[in-house]
Amino acid sequence: MTEEIVVIPGDGIGQEVVPAAVDVLQATGIGFEFVEATAGDHVAAEGGDPLPEETRALVADADATLFGAAGESAADVILPLRDAVGSFVNVRPARTYPGVDAVKPDMDIVFLRENTEGVYAGHESRLTDDVSTLTRVVSKSASERLAEYACDYAPDGFTVAHKANVMRETDGLFRDTVQSVAEENGVETDAALMDALAMHLCLRPEEYEVVVCPNLAGDVLSDLAAGLVGGLGLLPSANIGEERALFEPVHGTAPDIAGQGVANPCATVLSAAMLLDYLGYEEEGDAVRDAVEDGLAHGPRTPDLGGDASTADVTNDIIERL
Ligand code: NAI
Ligand code: MG
Repeated sequence: MTEEIVVIPGDGIGQEVVPAAVDVLQATGIGFEFVEATAGDHVAAEGGDPLPEETRALVADADATLFGAAGESAADVILPLRDAVGSFVNVRPARTYPGVDAVKPDMDIVFLRENTEGVYAGHESRLTDDVSTLTRVVSKSASERLAEYACDYAPDGFTVAHKANVMRETDGLFRDTVQSVAEENGVETDAALMDALAMHLCLRPEEYEVVVCPNLAGDVLSDLAAGLVGGLGLLPSANIGEERALFEPVHGTAPDIAGQGVANPCATVLSAAMLLDYLGYEEEGDAVRDAVEDGLAHGPRTPDLGGDASTADVTNDIIERL
């Protein structure tokens, strides 16, 4: 069976780093069928929908999708795409690499971020000239599904981020549900107030391995972690659904460097490694991660990591190490 991978470069450096990651996937020797699709500002600029229905339908039907980034249309592209794969968890690993300058040299944390509700569920309204409101949605069912995934992912235990001392109903439900599912599965957890957790992550990140978060907290805490490990050029992510998944770097379109051929491809290559794991090619996924790690320690580097290599130099080096 040949797996079909939908590939959406999107805008800006997405056009540079996604083809690089496809080259790496091809170098694994697994015979994927790649189907390229369009989305983003450049589609809207030609009068189209930033997320064409054809692209959405391809993603909803593919074995997996690799996405780069969209510019100003990001929310109109990525939220419906996460929806198209039925994604209930956003997996965001943040780790340091030997030889890469990081604020915190010894970090290896995975954030499991709730991906469907919280404050991003979209019930905002402008009540009067003076006042806007937002309804925050937390459900027991979504919290349970996330918790079950977390128990599989981290059988040795995890931390639950919350702010249930203030948001008693919503985060109280989130924390209590996640912790009780973990208890039923014999998985140890500790609960941490998200603001204090932000501080602890800065001071002692080596004490954390897996952190399960409500949507907004996961967004913010994982970007904080990105800063601690040496920047956005290294952070991959996976949007996992029951039957489909979409993989993307955490970074955006980087308009300040787009078109120069110097974008760091590692975040997208590492996202492709997560895609390999998801499709059951864990050995190949590990090989890609090892090649990236080896390259970061001994090979050429892009300017964001203090080097002067191009996207192509780094990609070719990773492929050689594979
Ligand atoms: P950004 O991630 O695009 O860039 C932030 C900084 O990090 C820039 O200085 C950029 O040069 C650098 N950077 C990011 N990725 C890099 C890489 N692979 N190699 C080297 N340097 C890298 O975030 P920003 O500037 O806030 O947003 C730019 C555009 O991207 C906006 O239009 C935003 O809407 C969009 N965006 C899209 C996302 C998505 O599609 N998932 C996510 C975040 C932003
Ligand atoms: Mg973000």
